Amino acid sequence: MPGNLILGIETSCDETSVAVVRGGSARGQEIEVLSNVVASQLVHSDYGGVVPELASREHLRAILPVLREAVARAGVAYADLDAVAVTEGPGLAGALLVGITFAKAFAFGLDKPLIAVNHLEGHIHAVLMQATPGPWALGPGPFLALVVSGGHTHLYLATRTSQDTWQYRNVGKTLDDAAGEAYDKVAKLLGLPYPGGPWMDALAAHGDASAVPFRFAQIKSKATGNRAAKLSREAEGWQDATRFDLSFSGIKTAVRRYAELNAMQPAIASRGEALRAAGLDKAKPSEETVAATLAHFDQRTLDLIASFQASVTGSLTRTLFAATEHFGARGVLVSGGVAANRELRRRITSEAAQRGLPVAFPTVALSTDNAAMIAAAAWPKFLARDFAPDTLEPTPQLRLG
Ligand code: KG4
Ligand code: ZN
Repeated sequence: MPGNLILGIETSCDETSVAVVRGGSARGQEIEVLSNVVASQLVHSDYGGVVPELASREHLRAILPVLREAVARAGVAYADLDAVAVTEGPGLAGALLVGITFAKAFAFGLDKPLIAVNHLEGHIHAVLMQATPGPWALGPGPFLALVVSGGHTHLYLATRTSQDTWQYRNVGKTLDDAAGEAYDKVAKLLGLPYPGGPWMDALAAHGDASAVPFRFAQIKSKATGNRAAKLSREAEGWQDATRFDLSFSGIKTAVRRYAELNAMQPAIASRGEALRAAGLDKAKPSEETVAATLAHFDQRTLDLIASFQASVTGSLTRTLFAATEHFGARGVLVSGGVAANRELRRRITSEAAQRGLPVAFPTVALSTDNAAMIAAAAWPKFLARDFAPDTLEPTPQLRLG
């Protein structure tokens, strides 16, 4: 068997993942995923959010079995691996440290090069790796990449260089909550299980999205007017008035206020109890669990969920295409956990079609955190011999572009 095997390790948040991918050619993006094992940490669901200390401990516990499983499923021997890639940041310091320490020791033991990957670049490669040999083979871009998850809501202009490596320029980001975080917080407020994004997505289909007129302006006025936003732009030395920033804390507060004004709390509290009693408080949405959960929802709350979803996905879509137009991007890449959202996919797909632009989403398995995307992002770096020193350390606030 030919080589070109990269082992990827991802431990930046609450997923312990190891993958083996095969780089296909010198073109840099034709990647074959041989294995992609993801161990999701369930401990956090009791706390309604990720607890950093628990995350580190769970990574320590899971990393070796997950690695063994990934290598076994790929059907390769350790000695066949050509490089070890690991997430350098951004992420939780202790969680990143487990992956990096392990990767360094493993690479040293095998005498293979170590490659450091930015987690956000990984998300972009989750889409790129599946997009070829589709429209992406046509040219170097630039592409407008939206990375939208529980931790990030970032817009990048991604361009392939003549050396087949990638360059990124950050052209916008959320100034407060990430979109997934807003989904999770609103879901929690309404008594839904954690993570709430997939639940909100499933329930929104049963509500009237025009019932509560959250306006785009309501979200945007915070983004353009507030002092923190201005300071953050100045700190970045950003002179360009055409920055495509977003804000989601306004809509979250608007939902809370709506629930208060409409005296929805007693219903929310009794719903929480009913879901617990029915064993649905830790469930994931499926046909059966959604049907069972729906029985505990009144129409007004479903309308509220649908209206929230319309506002958030509308804001993301508008900003994405405003940036696409401004930079003359040749296509759109969407990745991160929230890329699984059906309404977001529908809006972006239809907007891109109207503009005649290609658009790519990762499969659901590759849209949430995983190591295949880290190994895929490492492949062009491997070709360029862009290796990390053995003094590599986590960079929790690592930026891209
Ligand atoms: O990328 P990811 O697995 O982890 C990071 O945050 O880095 O994304 C998880 C986030 C959570 O906030 C989750 O609620 C959200 O993505 N999410 C969704 C959907 N599926 C996952 N949000 C809205 N609609 C969905 N279908
Ligand atoms: Zn992520």
